[in-house]
Amino acid sequence: MGDAPTEKGDASRYVGSPLFVGSDIIDEDFAAIRDILLAGRGFDLDGYKDRCIKRRIAARIRNLNCPSTASYIALLADNDAEQEELIEALTIHVSQFFRNPSTFRVLEESILPDLLRKSRGRSELRIWSVGCAGGEEPYSLALLCDELCTSRDQVSIIGTDISADILKKARTGLYEAHRLVEVPESALVQYFSLEDTKYRLNSHIRSKVRFFRHNILQDRRFSQIDLILCRNMLIYFSRQEQERILRSLAAALVPDGLLVLGRAETMVSDSRELFSCVDPTERIYRKRIDEPSPLDV
Ligand SMILES: C[S@@+](CC[C@H](N)C(=O)[O-])C[C@H]1O[C@@H](n2cnc3c(N)ncnc32)[C@H](O)[C@@H]1O
Repeated sequence: MGDAPTEKGDASRYVGSPLFVGSDIIDEDFAAIRDILLAGRGFDLDGYKDRCIKRRIAARIRNLNCPSTASYIALLADNDAEQEELIEALTIHVSQFFRNPSTFRVLEESILPDLLRKSRGRSELRIWSVGCAGGEEPYSLALLCDELCTSRDQVSIIGTDISADILKKARTGLYEAHRLVEVPESALVQYFSLEDTKYRLNSHIRSKVRFFRHNILQDRRFSQIDLILCRNMLIYFSRQEQERILRSLAAALVPDGLLVLGRAETMVSDSRELFSCVDPTERIYRKRIDEPSPLDV
């Protein structure tokens, strides 16, 4: 470790101490922090891209005015609340309703109508927003479905995220105006009400999305999903983990189910064999229908 350990305790003790001014974390300290989060919260730092994670850990140490990385590690070891705070600091929840509007246009004009047509006669259409942050993405899908569905259609929308805090916010459905800039004026009037300076999504749309805390790197996956949106989350993971995540998303989809990635994301090497590209600009992929192996027949 970088520095001699100090006693354990809460963060306020460090106010007035000489500050940790580093911007990087040495490998041994990183490993110690990783082990604590893995044992305490089941959160594995190894899957994330090293550089940005280390910078954010350093920023957290500076924000707490900890004098050294070692003292921070001692603080973290026995402190569930700080472990949660660190996970919060490491995850970025930037989102917006109808983020990348052209993607939502394709969803509205072709993908969702098509899926709804196919789902008629089956029990329900199943949609999963992975890394859903404050709910902007699954609620955008719920708004589209509200417009497109007939009374006979059954749609189940699930939003999952690793952060318990952001899911709490998602359930309240209360948003600052800048999250809503892509919501058409008519929808703003129809579905939201102004509360002080924020906008509350109405309970009818909120009730259409179920939120669950879920770590995509380790928790049991959902199944029989028709459409998965996994946008602006893969970029935080190493290539190896991206591949593992894409495999598990493929396994969660029905045979010809669809996957939408973020605009800055793409299929990594081996996962290309699992999906064919439907729309290269909007990063929409279709799961390839499994060829039955001779053993399955
Ligand atoms: C930048 S937001 C993307 C929000 C939304 N999908 C969008 O494109 O606007 C990334 C989200 O991924 C979540 N996340 C990070 N690691 C995760 C993990 N291992 N499992 C599930 N969610 C995770 C973060 O908490 C964050 O809310």
